Amino acid sequence: MGFLGILVQVTWVAVMLSELAAAAIAFPIAKPHCPDKCGDVEIPYPFGLTNGCSIDRNFLVNCTNSFGPTQPIILGGLTATHFSLEGQANVLAYMAKDCYKQGVLDPDLSIWTSVYLNSGPNFTVSSTQNKFVVVGCDTYAYLNTQQDKGNFSTGCVSVCENTWYIVNGSCSGVGCCQVDIPNGMNYVTLESLSFSNHAKVGAFNPCGYAFISQQTKFNFSIDSLQSLQHQKEMPLVLDWAIGTETCKDVVNKSSYTCGGNSTCIDSDNGSGYRCKCMEGYQGNPYLHLGCQDINECENSNHCKLPGQKCINGLGNFTCSCIKGYHLDVSAGICVTNQSSRLVTLLVGKYTYYILP
Ligand SMILES: *[C@@H]1O[C@H](CO)[C@@H](O)[C@H](O)[C@H]1NC(C)=O
Ligand SMILES: *[C@@H]1O[C@H](CO)[C@@H](O)[C@H](O)[C@H]1NC(C)=O
Ligand SMILES: *[C@@H]1O[C@H](CO)[C@@H](O)[C@H](O)[C@H]1NC(C)=O
Ligand SMILES: *[C@@H]1O[C@H](CO)[C@@H](O)[C@H](O)[C@H]1NC(C)=O
Ligand SMILES: *[C@@H]1O[C@H](CO)[C@@H](O)[C@H](O)[C@H]1NC(C)=O
Ligand SMILES: *[C@@H]1O[C@H](CO)[C@@H](O)[C@H](O)[C@H]1NC(C)=O
Ligand SMILES: *[C@@H]1O[C@H](CO)[C@@H](O)[C@H](O)[C@H]1NC(C)=O
Ligand SMILES: *[C@@H]1O[C@H](CO)[C@@H](O)[C@H](O)[C@H]1NC(C)=O
Ligand SMILES: *[C@@H]1O[C@H](CO)[C@@H](O)[C@H](O)[C@H]1NC(C)=O
Ligand SMILES: *[C@@H]1O[C@H](CO)[C@@H](O)[C@H](O)[C@H]1NC(C)=O
Repeated sequence: MGFLGILVQVTWVAVMLSELAAAAIAFPIAKPHCPDKCGDVEIPYPFGLTNGCSIDRNFLVNCTNSFGPTQPIILGGLTATHFSLEGQANVLAYMAKDCYKQGVLDPDLSIWTSVYLNSGPNFTVSSTQNKFVVVGCDTYAYLNTQQDKGNFSTGCVSVCENTWYIVNGSCSGVGCCQVDIPNGMNYVTLESLSFSNHAKVGAFNPCGYAFISQQTKFNFSIDSLQSLQHQKEMPLVLDWAIGTETCKDVVNKSSYTCGGNSTCIDSDNGSGYRCKCMEGYQGNPYLHLGCQDINECENSNHCKLPGQKCINGLGNFTCSCIKGYHLDVSAGICVTNQSSRLVTLLVGKYTYYILP
């Protein structure tokens, strides 16, 4: 009984400590003396807002309020909403749409029937996180891609006389169709077209729409047939990587950009590599001194049971026995000197033995 009482008390203290520590963790994401924010968006190196702050001119981000709120524009002209150090960026891209009034293309909107999307040389449209989506009941649309070694196109068709068979939440051919995105695209045009100018379906579907969208961000419903006409942009995910070489080829070259305490990862798709902090370290792996040791003892509940103390190491931590307890080597646990009662656990890197 007395033992349980101590256990509860110690755990309570541990929770409070870990909350304090979590609030204190912050590491620089930009180079020294470089701005690290544009509006609400964090700008981590290799991206940067001014010359010398980004890894090269292609990773320069234009922080502008020319279009209203202050927002970052990447090379190629897309507005970014988030940059991740895991090699992705969230951006907004225009959708293609063809809208009709009494069977005639609406001239105000006809500039949008074909839109192009240029992600620049160092970004590709993520093939795993996006789909090409086409919405409409008198609609066919193309996704045309220009690549160095040849152009290619894909697309889909959606025709329906009414909304009877449309299923909310399902983009499977009635009122909405979608296709997978090919790998490695960075320059595409989207074209939205109609068979008979929405003459028969205009009452519930005045436009056709074609866009690339992050899969989790668009949910088709009957409403979309009308409401998308008021929307200009869609969120999508781009992949980015450094250079065109693999880790093996670049790791000993002067162009290798991963900082200390980090490792190199070959880009999953397309070419190039990414950097990642080694296990037990956190920060921006693209900066020279970006990855710093995580003090596992401060921000977690490691080694918080009675009889234990946590000792932080570089990249790891160790649980050891406090005064009055000693290690039972064969069992790998701490034992009180007073009694032979087994109290707690001890172990090396991220491994525990938990008592039954
Ligand atoms: C940033 O974008 C704005 C708006 O398109 C443009 O006027 C300005 O020249 C750009 N700045 C740079 C440094 O490219
Ligand atoms: C790809 O399309 C572009 C624009 O339509 C054209 O200029 C280019 O020649 C095409 N490339 C090939 C390899 O056909
Ligand atoms: C999409 O909408 C349908 C019905 O409108 C709903 O059942 C479903 O949970 C939604 N899915 C997502 C991912 O929001
Ligand atoms: C489908 O969603 C629309 C709103 O988008 C709603 O008005 C309609 O009732 C829904 N239909 C069904 C069958 O759930
Ligand atoms: C970005 O792409 C350009 C063109 O391929 C290349 O020259 C440059 O090295 C790339 N930048 C980085 C940081 O990978
Ligand atoms: C890089 O250089 C180090 C030290 O010179 C060497 O041990 C290692 O094998 C090299 N790595 C590659 C992939 O060439
Ligand atoms: C590696 O991490 C340690 C511990 O945080 C730090 O002292 C050291 O400066 C780092 N090394 C580099 C090259 O970043
Ligand atoms: C990379 O492409 C392959 C297919 O070529 C796909 O299976 C994989 O999921 C892709 N990974 C990412 C992160 O895009
Ligand atoms: C506890 O026991 C261990 C092993 O018997 C011994 O080395 C250590 O000095 C003892 N500690 C105290 C505080 O008595
Ligand atoms: C922690 O990492 C250091 C440096 O890599 C190593 O010397 C030490 O043995 C490690 N400790 C454990 C418990 O893994």
